[in-house]
Order: sequence, then structure tokens, then C-alpha cells
Amino acid sequence: MIKYTNETADLKSEQLTGFFFGWPNPPSAQKHLEILQNSYKYFLALDGAEVVGFINAISDGIHSAYIPLLEVLPEYQGKGIGRKLMELMLKELYGFYMIDLVCDDKIVKFYEKLGLHRFTAMGLRNMDRQNGVKK
Ligand SMILES: CC(C)(COP(=O)(O)OP(=O)(O)OC[C@H]1O[C@@H](n2cnc3c(N)ncnc32)[C@H](O)[C@@H]1OP(=O)(O)O)[C@@H](O)C(=O)NCCC(=O)NCCS
Repeated sequence: MIKYTNETADLKSEQLTGFFFGWPNPPSAQKHLEILQNSYKYFLALDGAEVVGFINAISDGIHSAYIPLLEVLPEYQGKGIGRKLMELMLKELYGFYMIDLVCDDKIVKFYEKLGLHRFTAMGLRNMDRQNGVKK
């Protein structure tokens, strides 16, 4: 059974394997842990001790929140885990004026089912820093 939690004081990087699937320059498990620990909020989906999905948000805590990352391990996709993680995060962020994220076109329907609307986004991506390592 999948458990959902944000009580993760003892979370270890070894529990965070297989994520950033297909990324050319992914963060290490240690960087992944640091990303979560430095986030405003995050939730994990756990199968036993193994993290099989996660979501994080960054925020000013008052007005705006941004959801940079949501991922479910490939073998766990299509089982409602991504939806549940989004529902938990949207509940946590309830009351913010602005809750934004950027996604590929093929994921738009997934987010529309959760009540999000399509906007136009602008951004920059520094591929040298995709792994989160400062040079
Ligand atoms: C996108 C992602 C998080 C969805 O998680 P998931 O656990 O597979 O999705 P769920 O099983 O919770 O699906 C919830 C609903 O969305 C639908 N859905 C899921 N992925 C979809 C997609 N790519 N396109 C359209 N609909 C999708 C499901 O059919 C389901 O519909 P239903 O509630 O009507 O049955 C997951 O596929 C993933 O991690 N992908 C790789 C990383 C990624 O793209 N993350 C998003 C970054 S913006």
C-alpha cells in the first residue's frame, strides 16, 4: 500500500533512487534530498521505505507558490499517485493567490483534471545547472 507523508525528518538520500528519469544531467540523490529539504513544502509517496513519488513547492508563504517538480517512478505511474500528490499539495497551498507550474504539452490534461488552467509561460533553463551543482 502506498503511504503519503510530509513527516520526513529521517529521510535518507538512499530512499530517493530512480527519479529525474530521462533527464540528461539529473541531480544526484543527495541533491534531490537537499532540494526537498529546502522547499517550502513537499510530499512523498512511499512504498515501504522506498520513495516512489514526490512533489515540492517553493513560495513566499503569503501570496505565490510554484510547483517545480512532480514525479512518480515509471513502474508506479497510472495508479493515481501523481493525482494524490497534487491534491495534497493543492490542499496545503489553499488560499494562495497564485499557484503556478510549467509542464510539457502532453501533461496538460493531467493538470486540467486537477482544476489548473493553461497559461503562457516564459523561462530560462541553464542545462549546466540541471544537476543542482554550483560551479
Ligand atoms: C505526470 C505524472 C506525475 C502523473 O502521475 P501518475 O501517477 O502517473 O498519474 P495518475 O495515475 O495519478 O493519473 C491521474 C489522472 O491523470 C491522467 N493522466 C496521467 N498522466 C497523464 C498524461 N500524461 N496525459 C494525460 N492524462 C494523464 C490519468 O489517466 C488519470 O486520469 P483519471 O483520474 O481520469 O483516471 C507521471 O506520469 C510522471 O511522473 N511523469 C514523469 C514526470 C513528469 O512529467 N512530471 C510532471 C512535471 S510538470
